[in-house]
Amino acid sequence: MEQSRGSRVIEWDLVVMGLGYVGMPIARAAVQAGLRVAGVDVDRARVDRLNAGSSPVDDLSDADVRELLDQRFHATTDPRAVAAADTVIICVPTPLDQDRRPDLGAVTSATEMVADNLRADTLVVLESTTWPGTTEQVVRPLLEKSGLGAGTDFHLAYSPERIDPGNPHYGVRNTPKIVGGITPGCLDRAAAFYGKFVERIVPVRGTREAEMAKLLENTYRQVNIALVNEIAILCEDLVIDVWDTISAAATKPFGYQAFRPGPGVGGHCIPIDPSYLSHRVRRLGHQFQFAELAQQINDRMPKYVVDRAVRLLHRHGQCANGANIILLGVTYKPDIADGRESPAEPIAGHLGAAGARVGYVDPLIADWCARGVPVPRTEDLGDALATADLVILLQPHRTFDLDLIAAEGALVLDTRGVLPRSETVERL
Ligand SMILES: NC(=O)c1ccc[n+]([C@@H]2O[C@H](COP(=O)([O-])OP(=O)(O)OC[C@H]3O[C@@H](n4cnc5c(N)ncnc54)[C@H](O)[C@@H]3O)[C@@H](O)[C@H]2O)c1
Repeated sequence: MEQSRGSRVIEWDLVVMGLGYVGMPIARAAVQAGLRVAGVDVDRARVDRLNAGSSPVDDLSDADVRELLDQRFHATTDPRAVAAADTVIICVPTPLDQDRRPDLGAVTSATEMVADNLRADTLVVLESTTWPGTTEQVVRPLLEKSGLGAGTDFHLAYSPERIDPGNPHYGVRNTPKIVGGITPGCLDRAAAFYGKFVERIVPVRGTREAEMAKLLENTYRQVNIALVNEIAILCEDLVIDVWDTISAAATKPFGYQAFRPGPGVGGHCIPIDPSYLSHRVRRLGHQFQFAELAQQINDRMPKYVVDRAVRLLHRHGQCANGANIILLGVTYKPDIADGRESPAEPIAGHLGAAGARVGYVDPLIADWCARGVPVPRTEDLGDALATADLVILLQPHRTFDLDLIAAEGALVLDTRGVLPRSETVERL
């Protein structure tokens, strides 16, 4: 049923710009709360796929998408949907460019599309992760090219997305939502909007505090992961079991949160977001030393994993040159079909440079290239274990039979500490 705001007919309670890992779960939560949602994306194939009932992201099944379509969801490439929307959320990618500087190209182009179709009284919220000040200094002026004033004619807010793809416990509804408006009125309007489908709203002073909170969260993760990665490297030299050490420390009921080492950080957040803050503070003449050091340490992990693999082969009288090495799990985290910034790629590159024949097993990735070179896939885990000189467990996907890997792998390097140590199984 159509509703109106002032003289305007509202066809969509929400327009989501960017139908990816962030946009789709939001669209779903809003539809489940009874809102009418249009999704706008520049990727025609993705839009067609969605409207045909096929999900482009792990957190929604095809059945979920069909359910959305049966209710109040429609995907389109046409940004004119914005003109008939009560609220618009922008959740498009915020990557780094080739020189590792923030690339706000998708944010500015999505904002321009919104500006071209903006009507009075609309609420616009940026959710993409970005440097503090973006909403006020980049998004606001672009939207005001419409001739409408932020905080007077339309509402503008920032609310960081905290989605954790694959997390079975926390989703849009039960993850507290930080909201900052450019005026108190904008904050109230945004808080009321999210309150329709999120259990707890956390209002903050302004958009900068909301932008900064997200970067603090992700930098905290990045720094603590780097800390345990460095501890893992030291533990090897000191002949200490790092996994045992971490499990012991984690028994402290206060003042300690356990992070675990791994083959390197990946995905759209941890390797990228702190660079948005580094870039911002560099313009003020400062360095963000913690984040920069953490990035250096995390970036070293893929090479360290390869060095461990080479040493493991040597100890068993083998050589990396000519060895058949199979990577188990090449996504950036377990159970997610997302290969962005995955450490598997530099690991495959370094192994190839050492003369190894590299293959992979990953039920979630049908075709995979490392640094532009196609890597052969073995579909069956058992076949891979039967032929490999060494397997390196990078992502312990739920579907991997860990007992089989431990029992049948000729040599196994476990970068996640999930297999029991043995004659043939070495843990990071
Ligand atoms: N993936 C995560 O776990 C996660 C978690 C929290 C925050 N974030 C942040 O959320 C934002 C989006 O990330 P994502 O993982 O959903 O990205 P994604 O790549 O999965 O999806 C983004 C979508 O935006 C579309 N798009 C690009 N330009 C557009 C435009 N101008 N107009 C409309 N659509 C456009 C793309 O085609 C794509 O479908 C990023 O800033 C990211 O840092 C991501």
